[in-house]
Amino acid sequence: MGELLSGRTAVVTGAARGLGFAMARGFLQQGARVFLADLDKDAVDAAVEQLAGQGLTAAVATACDVTDELSVAALAEQAAREGLSVWVNNAGILRNGEMATMPLAGFRALIDVHVQGSWLGCKYAGIHIGPGGGSIVNISSIGGKAGLAGQTNYSTAKAAILGLTKAAAKELAPRDIRVNTILPGIMRTAMAEQLAPEDLAARLTDVPLGRIGEPHEIADAAVFLASDMSTFVTGAALEVSGGRFM
Ligand SMILES: NC(=O)c1ccc[n+]([C@@H]2O[C@H](COP(=O)([O-])OP(=O)(O)OC[C@H]3O[C@@H](n4cnc5c(N)ncnc54)[C@H](O)[C@@H]3O)[C@@H](O)[C@H]2O)c1
Repeated sequence: MGELLSGRTAVVTGAARGLGFAMARGFLQQGARVFLADLDKDAVDAAVEQLAGQGLTAAVATACDVTDELSVAALAEQAAREGLSVWVNNAGILRNGEMATMPLAGFRALIDVHVQGSWLGCKYAGIHIGPGGGSIVNISSIGGKAGLAGQTNYSTAKAAILGLTKAAAKELAPRDIRVNTILPGIMRTAMAEQLAPEDLAARLTDVPLGRIGEPHEIADAAVFLASDMSTFVTGAALEVSGGRFM
């Protein structure tokens, strides 16, 4: 427990589980009030209940589809009533496959959730973060830097988030809103569990630190970028990957 985010209000999208849930918990442990937003309302209600069971009661569950502009705008308005200053664009999906057999819909779905979703998050966080400034954290991936076979849709989307981060950082800097991105490596979540075990083992041979990452290690980086520990950091891409594809 700490006070790095005490008095702050944060939104984390895709927070029902995985990295989003870990970041929401990390923010709560640092004293923030956190809106956990997710497409899956039942799952995010259960997540908030789980946090309350751990004594982290300043959490609010909200249904939100990050591909839907009205839904993102409503989430930002709701959080702004509590003095919004931190926003994490984390919601994500995977639809792996070879390009030759990937339907266009499998490409578009990734662009809709990761790129359009993050852009909408930056847009409405930018509009609703108050005059005191704040911090937006976009979740990209090491796959957006290196490119991964079988993930042309995902690598395209995650690379776009790097460009979005830098452009938004320049646009929002005059209002003291910092925008940064985290590039996670292979982390222990349901998304990584979609990989075949032999595929996961092969990927881990590329990791200099020699192991899968734990969700709290992304949360620690997000707390740094969300808090006053990083007041001179904007437009940065922080790799939290055990050194994979450095
Ligand atoms: N897990 C990894 O190894 C890894 C590595 C690099 C990057 N990432 C990125 O981190 C983020 C989180 O990954 P994770 O492993 O925790 O994923 P996850 O699948 O465990 O959780 C993703 C959450 O996003 C929600 N979501 C999906 N579509 C949504 C939408 N349209 N609107 C709102 N919520 C939606 C899901 O319901 C789910 O709760 C993603 O952006 C992912 O690409 C993950």
